[in-house]
Amino acid sequence: MVKPKIALVGGGQIGNAIAHLAALRELGDVVMFDIKEGLAEGKCLDIAEAAPIANFDVQLRGDSDIGCIAGADIIVVTAGVPRKPGMSREDLIEINARIMVTVAEGIKTHAPDAIVIVLSNPLDAMVTLCQKLTGFPVERVMGMAGVLDSARFASFIAWELGVSVRDVNALVLGGHGDAMVPIVRFANVNGIPALELLERKYGSAEKARQVMAELVERTQNAGGEVVDLLKTGSAFISPATSAISMVEAVIHDQKRLLPVCAMLSGQYGVSGYYVGVPCILGAGGIEKIVEFDLTDDEQSLLDHSVAEVKKLVDSLPI
Ligand code: APR
Repeated sequence: MVKPKIALVGGGQIGNAIAHLAALRELGDVVMFDIKEGLAEGKCLDIAEAAPIANFDVQLRGDSDIGCIAGADIIVVTAGVPRKPGMSREDLIEINARIMVTVAEGIKTHAPDAIVIVLSNPLDAMVTLCQKLTGFPVERVMGMAGVLDSARFASFIAWELGVSVRDVNALVLGGHGDAMVPIVRFANVNGIPALELLERKYGSAEKARQVMAELVERTQNAGGEVVDLLKTGSAFISPATSAISMVEAVIHDQKRLLPVCAMLSGQYGVSGYYVGVPCILGAGGIEKIVEFDLTDDEQSLLDHSVAEVKKLVDSLPI
């Protein structure tokens, strides 16, 4: 059987980590394109030379010509500038939109049948731009944000409760900005509501709600927390790991239910905008957008997050 072809557009911190993870898991052959001469070639060579030790057998090839993505089954876009301390994701819009214009053109020309996962920030705007400029069907163009935001929320809950991260389930919906919406009602440890466990830990419902509010706030600001510590860029291992779980869901047709930045057409009261919602991911890309009833409070938090997404998208130069 022919191995899937995974194309990475952008070979910086996140692109490099994705290439490494894709190789370790033998998800397919990897091509990496980066505009910086030699960068993608060097990164791929470095990873490829680890193969005999790490025991993976896939091809990795880097190039500074976007033609290398030809025939890709799946493309992950991380081309763009990351934030520095003091910057919001929204501050990146102008420069990264210009980059997305050339990237989308390249994808449309060289890999017209690919499924595309966008990571470049501000995510909700960049994925919108990518879909509009490629003209690809919406189920084939999606953004990665919710998997990462949910993993961050799950991590904070696990650390607070002193339980394994394996047993925590958490879901974050909405835009990939500070107004993202962690769904507290669904946060649980192997089915037991996290709020109830917090109440037992602290012996007070009020204190439990206060601690949960702190975990929610930390989740909303988690990207910035890393940026402030690194000072030179933004998180890369956790975004790459999140992207890989989406790549794997598509390549292995896993029908996973994951929070994905998807184009909505009426779901959750939103039409014509990309927003993070639960989706079934499989070989066809976004095979289904999954709906469930939000409480009035959750709906108003989502409406607020969507309003932020709209502001951002409507400010795009296209
Ligand atoms: N085509 C291809 N690659 C490009 C282009 C382009 N037109 N423009 C820039 N790049 C490359 C850069 O050369 C760089 O190697 O994109 C890469 C970005 O890598 P980093 O600066 O290390 O950024 P990274 O941490 O990987 O984040 C990439 O994802 O999560 C978002 O906010 C983050 O927007 C940022 C993006």
